[in-house]
Amino acid sequence: MTDWSPSSWRDKPAVQIPQYPDMDALTTVERELASKPPLVFAGEARRLKRQLAEVTAGRAFLLQGGDCAESFKEFSADSVRDTFRVMLQMAVVLTFAAAKPIVKVGRIAGQFTKPRSAPTETRDGVELPSYRGDSVNEMGFDADSRVPDPRRLLRAYDQSAATLNLIRAFASGGYADLNNVHQWTLEFVSGSPASDRYGELAGRISEALAFMRACGVTGEGARSLESVDFYTSHEALHLPFEEALTRREAATGDWLATSAHMIWIGERTRQPDGAHVEFARGVLNPVGVKVGPTTTIDQLLPVIDRINPQNEAGRLVLISRMGAKKVGDCLPGLVRAVEREGRTVVWSCDPMHGNTVKTDSGYKTRDFESILSELERFMEAVRGEGAYPGGVHFEMTGSDVTECVGGARAVTEADLSSRYHTHCDPRLNADQALDMAFRIAESMKASRRSSADAA
Ligand code: TRP
Ligand code: MN
Repeated sequence: MTDWSPSSWRDKPAVQIPQYPDMDALTTVERELASKPPLVFAGEARRLKRQLAEVTAGRAFLLQGGDCAESFKEFSADSVRDTFRVMLQMAVVLTFAAAKPIVKVGRIAGQFTKPRSAPTETRDGVELPSYRGDSVNEMGFDADSRVPDPRRLLRAYDQSAATLNLIRAFASGGYADLNNVHQWTLEFVSGSPASDRYGELAGRISEALAFMRACGVTGEGARSLESVDFYTSHEALHLPFEEALTRREAATGDWLATSAHMIWIGERTRQPDGAHVEFARGVLNPVGVKVGPTTTIDQLLPVIDRINPQNEAGRLVLISRMGAKKVGDCLPGLVRAVEREGRTVVWSCDPMHGNTVKTDSGYKTRDFESILSELERFMEAVRGEGAYPGGVHFEMTGSDVTECVGGARAVTEADLSSRYHTHCDPRLNADQALDMAFRIAESMKASRRSSADAA
């Protein structure tokens, strides 16, 4: 690619990039970032791409999840471990239900910058710059906190490195052992108000594991049961940061965004001629593109062409985020057109962002049942066009927050104030996330049964 470089996005219209009062200070930080070690490697991104290619062929399923926005304050080894653990528990349930490998991708180790609907926020007549994530400014509503400070990018880099270090250790150090993970799930099920409902599926997984053990498929000698591939991802919004971490692989000449294995482009920055699409088209990483209810096929096809001109399987993940009420109307036409044009993509569902509501008491929340309903309608819509619903994308955390309402151990609107910690959008808590996996498993099972009946 001769007309692309890590900085070629600078010649395109760039929305949502923070404006710094001191641009020289930003340049100094960019230079410092450019001398830092890469967080991920090309071989890892290619491996993820191969696994996503399996998803496009209907032979695997993508689970992507994590915080809406990571924060400096809430960072700890325990919180990373807890989110990782719930993702794995979900993955076991889904692996069993789908009878397919689950590709595990965290919204983690780099999810620090947020797009905003307005550049400023006004409260009681005071107007300040909007909070754009911990890599840019501080959430507190006072003038000092809201000034964008480029040095925060260095802290985001450091926290990403520390997070990734934990993830790499957890993924291979015994913590991810399949039997271990399932043991936690059995504890969850026995304490859940839905234990009758989930007990059957959990019991069948236990039997399958016992059977494998009896056959001699155990920890030693069965490395695949002891460890997982776990990848990182975030929205590639802050292009000066992404550019500084983009490196060329000497052996191939290919470019890699070394900030994460997978990056995505948000609903607000997916203009085909815009800076974000320009940046993403030149790096070899798998790329996600969020697709909202106003997306037209005339907007979507040029983005697909730009990012994946060779129609490489596993390169592009289209992440539908329509809302439960709209997905049935808005998605089928897009799926039909993309399939008709022969474009190979992963169809994934983000059932979070189209289902955000504000309560009377002023909390942003999402209802468990709306989230589940969007997922189910997404699956129907994609299958209805003869394509494969290949993934899910959640905002979730391993801790016991009260941000979304509903779930088996129901969080009510009155509960929201007790542990509402998110720096941005409401996340599923650990129990709700695992509830969700069991519910998806039920509908996967039902659809496997009905396709078997039809055969
Ligand atoms: N390595 C396999 C996988 O990643 C099996 C496995 C081991 C697993 N530990 C796991 C699957 C934890 C899900 C969760 O699929
Ligand atoms: Mn969000």
